[in-house]
Amino acid sequence: MFLTDEEKRMRDGAEGDAVAAAMDLLIRYGYALDAERLCDIRNVAGTMTQPSPVKARLVAEGGWDKAFAVINLDSDADLTVPPMRVPTCQLQHGFGPDSAGVVPYPAASVALQGDAEAFYGRHGVNILATCTPYQVGNLPLRGEHCAWMESSAVIYANSVLGARTNCEGIASTGAASLTGKVPCCGNHLDENRRGTHLVWVSGTTVESFQDWGMLGYFAGSVAGEDRPVIAGSLSRPDLTELKHFGAAAATSGGVELYHIPGITPEAASVESAFGTGTAVPEAAVYGPAERRAVYETLNEIGSSTDVDFVLLGCPHASVDQIRQAAALLDGKRLAAGTELWIMAPRALKVMADRSGYTGVIERAGGRVLADSCPAMSRAAPLGTRVFATDSAKQAHYLPAILGIEAWFGTLEECVAAALTGRWDGGLR
Ligand code: F3S
Repeated sequence: MFLTDEEKRMRDGAEGDAVAAAMDLLIRYGYALDAERLCDIRNVAGTMTQPSPVKARLVAEGGWDKAFAVINLDSDADLTVPPMRVPTCQLQHGFGPDSAGVVPYPAASVALQGDAEAFYGRHGVNILATCTPYQVGNLPLRGEHCAWMESSAVIYANSVLGARTNCEGIASTGAASLTGKVPCCGNHLDENRRGTHLVWVSGTTVESFQDWGMLGYFAGSVAGEDRPVIAGSLSRPDLTELKHFGAAAATSGGVELYHIPGITPEAASVESAFGTGTAVPEAAVYGPAERRAVYETLNEIGSSTDVDFVLLGCPHASVDQIRQAAALLDGKRLAAGTELWIMAPRALKVMADRSGYTGVIERAGGRVLADSCPAMSRAAPLGTRVFATDSAKQAHYLPAILGIEAWFGTLEECVAAALTGRWDGGLR
């Protein structure tokens, strides 16, 4: 793999042991990926503060420097963590102190995370604490090379923003944050950004938030880890629908990049999405039968219609999603024994607080919670047996993580379930 003089200097220790360990990791990683060189990056979205038992043990042994060395740099050496070399943010992590008494989440984890925030904040990590950094000010430009984790964020960065990132890991983002480098392969290269599968919507329309989630789930099942191009009978999506679509496609498959001609930035037409001179492949049709099949898959875990938990905001909710939920809850009261949580970036919760939406939701008995989610922190209301959600991603994962039943539906159906304690959804 080609290394510049600057990269060789970092590898050889000119900028300290931690940077040298980071460069060593990136070189090993690059060789494993057959990368020919490293990309310059200036935007890292990773995770350093998420509490875990292993992290707690490492911190007890050698402080946060030790924890960063082992977990974020794959190094057993005694290193001192320098300031981040490029802008770096923390993605979602565990629940914070304001969730105490609401979320059954260990106080020791809350304390460890608070300690981590202080350490990493001092080292230049922006504690955005959300899976949607693009909603709270981290917006890489089109063509900008990044090192991001979190599948729903990666697909958004690549597809909606036209930035370039692979789905990185804890160690590669840690190394990238200290060097401003990442292996230049995969989604960083033009030739790997063209469409591979055509998904054609026909005989049905995709115009609601729920529909965009179901179409994303279908596209992921068709494309697997490749790059679907979506066309046909589509309404123009808004950003929350694209957020939902991408998260679903990255859940049923491993999609990191898609194109919607005329909407996403790198595809003016179906033909150009596949590349000039490349034949457009035969389409996988998404029609009424496929729509119903996706809906049934996402609802196959639900049997009891007694709902005790409603979860909204996966990926983390926009202010507008919080406002919509508040409007449906205004002046009403959740059913006894039913809880409603809306997950949101903390910065947007502040806006929801100031706009009065949080107050409306709380007066109804619901919560707007920041920083994390039940899947990430493995924490749902005590005794939850059946939950309802408008998120295809949560409907897919949470039953397996928490051993509970799931219903997938619209925002209106989910709020109705919170108000009645009963699931009465169905495909319209
Ligand atoms: Fe975010 Fe949790 Fe969903 S981290 S994407 S709300 S699973």
